[in-house]
Amino acid sequence: MTETSLAGRDLLDLQTPTREEIGLILDTARSFSEILRRPVKKVPTLRGKSVVTLFYEASTRTRSSFEAAGKYMSADVINISGSTSSATKGESLRDTFLTLQALTADLVVMRTPFSGACHQAAEWVDIPVVNAGDGTHEHPTQGLLDLLTLRDAKGDLEGLTVAIVGDVAHSRVARSNLWGLTRLGARVRLVGPATLLPPDADRLPVEVYTDLRAGLEGVDVVNVLRLQLERQSRALFPTAREYSRLFGVTREALKAAKPDVLVMHPGPMNRGLEISADVADMPRSLIERQVTNGVAVRMAVLYLLLGAEGK
Ligand code: NCD
Repeated sequence: MTETSLAGRDLLDLQTPTREEIGLILDTARSFSEILRRPVKKVPTLRGKSVVTLFYEASTRTRSSFEAAGKYMSADVINISGSTSSATKGESLRDTFLTLQALTADLVVMRTPFSGACHQAAEWVDIPVVNAGDGTHEHPTQGLLDLLTLRDAKGDLEGLTVAIVGDVAHSRVARSNLWGLTRLGARVRLVGPATLLPPDADRLPVEVYTDLRAGLEGVDVVNVLRLQLERQSRALFPTAREYSRLFGVTREALKAAKPDVLVMHPGPMNRGLEISADVADMPRSLIERQVTNGVAVRMAVLYLLLGAEGK
């Protein structure tokens, strides 16, 4: 038994967890990643536990990796998508959660367009709630898988400089990354056009750059964000071509960074817009490793929150 325990807790953001709690999740994920390399990827650890994924927004990686994580550990995973749930018949989110609890779900993973809705839901039920992305607020398991990927590549994160580039204002990935990275001792820069930087940037523990070359100067890592057009209600930059010319991460732009700079992207990517195809595919791109680590991190989160230690 470790002293730090997450059993029965929620995972709603990366602003709250301590360095020790983040370390416990990352260490647990690292030990689980061995299971992913086995010919038979199945362990009985979560047998008899049921996990519900409730997604009110599109997802490829996040939903399927929670499902895979649960299944590899023998949990029963029930997937509900917003478009097929009774939300379309007017059922409230509170009644949906009370119903899932009454159906004896042991843990609910939710993605929602509403910032703060996961915190709200966690107050309604006794079972753990995991935030799989709430509006523009946070996406803690993405932040954790990014930390794990960087820790694998660099060892210690203490003193690294990470530039988060692009549509920061609408990105829950950026927020979870900045809290997790600063908690583990990295320095964070937010880089993008002023219209796509968060209005509260001056209250965040970051440096802000509105020029790509200046923002990439000497950095160890570049984390590129997708332009979240679905969350932009008005034009925040002139044209896609102009955006890509000024803020697209290309080999040329990367010349400002350290020669061994690492490139990350949470996906889904718009190649040729926020990132050039050759940068996405270059050997120092960690993008595919991020996806694999996503499964290991979600296995660790389910395991720790469901209190399966020692079973
Ligand atoms: C992100 C999301 O949905 O927040 N995707 C993901 O989970 N990997 C980022 C995005 O949609 O751009």
